This record gives sequence, C-alpha cells and structure tokens, in this order.
Amino acid sequence: MSRFLVTVRLPEPAMTMLSEAGHVEVPAHRLTRAQLTDACASREYDVVVPQLTDTFDDSLLASAAIRGISNYAVGYDNIDVAAATRHGILVGNTPGVLTDATADLAMLLMLATARRCVEADAFLRTGRFTGWEPELLLGSDVTGAELGLVGFGRIARATAQRALGFGMTVRYASRRPVPDSELGALAGRVQRAPLDELVRDSDILSVHVPLNEETHHLVNATTFKAMKPSAILINTARGPIVDERALVDALRDGEIAGAGLDVYEREPTVVDGLADLPNTTLLPHLGSATRPVRTTMARLCAANAIAMARGERPPHLVNP
Ligand code: DGY
Repeated sequence: MSRFLVTVRLPEPAMTMLSEAGHVEVPAHRLTRAQLTDACASREYDVVVPQLTDTFDDSLLASAAIRGISNYAVGYDNIDVAAATRHGILVGNTPGVLTDATADLAMLLMLATARRCVEADAFLRTGRFTGWEPELLLGSDVTGAELGLVGFGRIARATAQRALGFGMTVRYASRRPVPDSELGALAGRVQRAPLDELVRDSDILSVHVPLNEETHHLVNATTFKAMKPSAILINTARGPIVDERALVDALRDGEIAGAGLDVYEREPTVVDGLADLPNTTLLPHLGSATRPVRTTMARLCAANAIAMARGERPPHLVNP
C-alpha cells in the first residue's frame, strides 16, 4: 500500500484520490524543518506532498528515504531539484493550470496600483469622501502604457495577451528569442528587448521569471535607479527576485511611483516599511487562488503523487 505524507491538507479531489490509492497522513501542525527531515528519513512514506513553503535542500534530501515529492505549485524553487535527482527522488509540479489566474492577478495589480485602488478604498471607508473633486486621487493611465515583461513563459504570455487588450504596448526580455510560430495570437504584437532597455523604458515592469541563483535580486537598487520615476513594478512570480529593502527605499525616495506585489522575500513576513507605503498594492500570494484552479492543482498534484508511489513516471515531472 502506498504511503503519502501531505504536509497541509489539500482541496478535493486530492485527499480522496490519495486515500483511495493508499494511506495518507496529514500532520496536525506545520512541520518544522527538523520534523520534515525526520519524516522524510523515517521510511514511513513513499511520497511527500508539500507546500511551496516546505524547503527540500541537499542535506534533507541526502537522508530522505522517499520516492518522490509532489509539489502543490507550479514553482519548485523550494526544492533542490539537482540534489533530488542525484538522490533518485522524483519531483512533480502543477504546470499550466494556474496561468490565466496568475495573469489575471498581474493585471489586477497593474490596474489597482496605477489607479490607487487601495488608497481610494481606505479613503472612502474612513469617511473622507465628501464629494467628487477634479483632482481627487489621480492615478496613471494603463491604456497606452508600455509594459515590460521580465521573462516570457506561460504566465508572461497570458499577461501580454491581456495587456494588449487594454491598449498597452508590450515588450519582453528573455534569454532566448521566441519565434513567431510559438507565439500564436501574440505573433508580431510583442517585441523582445534587452533587459536594461525594458527597465529604462517601461511604464510598468512585471516580473515573470522563476527564482534561481541567476534571478535572485535580479530587480535591485540599480534597477530602480534606472526606471522612470513614474513607473510601477509588479511581481507575481517569487519574492526574492526583487530586493525588497531596495524597493522600499525606491518607493520612499520617489525613484519609482508604485508597486503591486503578490509575493515577498521572506513570506509570510513583509519587509519593514513596505506596508506603510500608500503607493503599494499588497496581496498575500494569491496568484492561483481561485476555487477551480486550486481544485485542478489538487488533482494534478495527487496524480503525480500516486504515479510516483507506484513507481510510474508522474504526468508532470520536473527532474531533467
Ligand atoms: C505556484 O504554483 O508556484 C504559485 O506560486 C502558487 O500557486
């Protein structure tokens, strides 16, 4: 019988699928690093189904006696995949299904930040709205703005599609040029540019790269100094891609106009000062948080876990 450790209870149908395939254990509390290490080494589980907040580094993986890790996320920067591969541990993720939801959230953050929605909402709720005024809470236009996409994977492309619908011009920076044949409806409507040009020219700069050694603090104090003072930064990817301390300084000093963030360097903590800034829209990592998307993620995640436990290739394998 297959044995699964699910670090946090998942939405259905995951729990039913896993229970029908084997024995499932869900700890009553979040596991500490030491508890997760011990659990993985205990030989009591075939597959661990973690959250993106559970970290699997080389030392944990070296002592692990499990067949696989089925991450409940598309991103897998919480797992040292090279080390997992070396130790013969499969890694699965949930790609594709959260693309549209995350692109929607990137648009939401652009619009909310450009139009100062958080400030405006607080303004009304605190009884300060005394009537229409010609210059009340003026924001910036999204229509006609230049959007720079840092990275051009699935979510960036879905964001580009939406942005074009809003009348924005769209450029992207990516390691390799994407041929028109891969771009579908975006062909001829988006241009590739060097990152420094995107940083310099964009009215909105939106981050869509995975987190790894190369992208850690890719957006930093130098980036903010090079951006337009009227520009807005959006991050729906991973927090540590942006140097959050430098971001607070840049927002405070007026080096950029605003930021819309769904992810943070040290979640769930937000760097000091960020939440005090009025020119920010701050969400608690909700990119994939629609009921249908989380349900589909749950199904994919369980399917990966069940295949791994049976010694089969999971439908969404991350190892090279
Ligand atoms: C992911 O899947 O990587 C998101 O950050 C959470 O759904």
